[in-house]
Amino acid sequence: MRILIIGSSGMLGSDLVEHWTDDEVIPATSGDVDIRDMGLVRQFITQARPDWVVLAAAYTDVDGSEWNPEQAFAVNGEGTRNVARVAQEFDRKLLYVSTDYVFDGTSPRPYEPDDPVHPLNVYGASKVAGENAIREESEHWLIARTSWLFGTSRASFPEKILRAATCQPQIKVVADQMGSPTFTRDLATAIRDLVRSDARGTLHVTNSGACSWFEFAKEVLLKAGRKTPVLPITTAEADRLAKRPAYSVLSPASLNVRGIRLRNWQEAVGAYVAELRQKGKLDR
Ligand SMILES: NC(=O)c1ccc[n+]([C@@H]2O[C@H](COP(=O)([O-])OP(=O)(O)OC[C@H]3O[C@@H](n4cnc5c(N)ncnc54)[C@H](OP(=O)(O)O)[C@@H]3O)[C@@H](O)[C@H]2O)c1
Repeated sequence: MRILIIGSSGMLGSDLVEHWTDDEVIPATSGDVDIRDMGLVRQFITQARPDWVVLAAAYTDVDGSEWNPEQAFAVNGEGTRNVARVAQEFDRKLLYVSTDYVFDGTSPRPYEPDDPVHPLNVYGASKVAGENAIREESEHWLIARTSWLFGTSRASFPEKILRAATCQPQIKVVADQMGSPTFTRDLATAIRDLVRSDARGTLHVTNSGACSWFEFAKEVLLKAGRKTPVLPITTAEADRLAKRPAYSVLSPASLNVRGIRLRNWQEAVGAYVAELRQKGKLDR
């Protein structure tokens, strides 16, 4: 198959390109195609002639989206609609990566794909707009919602914690938000397997298990052999611009019934630390 990966220079996109073996992968960076421009999207898809379009490009700055909602909706809403429309014009299959932030965090149990969405912030609302565009424009679509991504190609939460550990006597981390950290390498492999099995519909794809950001930070330092103390703080104390759901754990049931099961997040953190070392981004 020919697989067009839009957003190939992003954290997930880089791992999709690196780990998608046995198919012909066509990477597209924002320099190759700005998804806000439907003409460019059409030109690129005409030339690439993919069987599947994997849309991993997005405006992902959660706090920045509060300042700049136009940008968030232009990329995540209208940009996604452009890709969906053109993919449909050429009768191509489409996978869209979405987020746990479509939910408001009030559920007493892990979210299932059919649970009602109710985003608390602009970024989440713009991704809901993207999901709606996919469902409205495309006939053969797959929406893969994921959460709390970390990977070695771009600085994500664990790398920021490791950096803080080198220059701060202690690190304060939010302990009252729960989610499922997900290693982009594991997500990339799952996406590849879902595409190969011709999956459709809305699915939740995360590493297994759940934790708070505080527990996530402690695990990163443990796996990296760092002893810097981590102190729990509340969301209110962190004083971030965008509201975040207190609980955005995504149920793995929709993935598991397709025979795909991602390892637990603690193991994934171990693999991430090993990959950082292999890339020379972390001292022994
Ligand atoms: N990060 C998370 O914790 C998280 C959690 C849940 C879901 N997600 C979703 O997972 C997907 C991948 O996230 P990520 O963290 O890998 O993102 P990322 O590292 O921020 O990368 C986003 C990519 O999108 C590209 N892009 C931005 N605007 C574009 C435009 N107008 N046209 C074309 N490309 C554009 C960027 O290109 P440039 O670098 O050139 O700007 C970059 O390659 C996104 O759909 C995101 O919403 C992420």
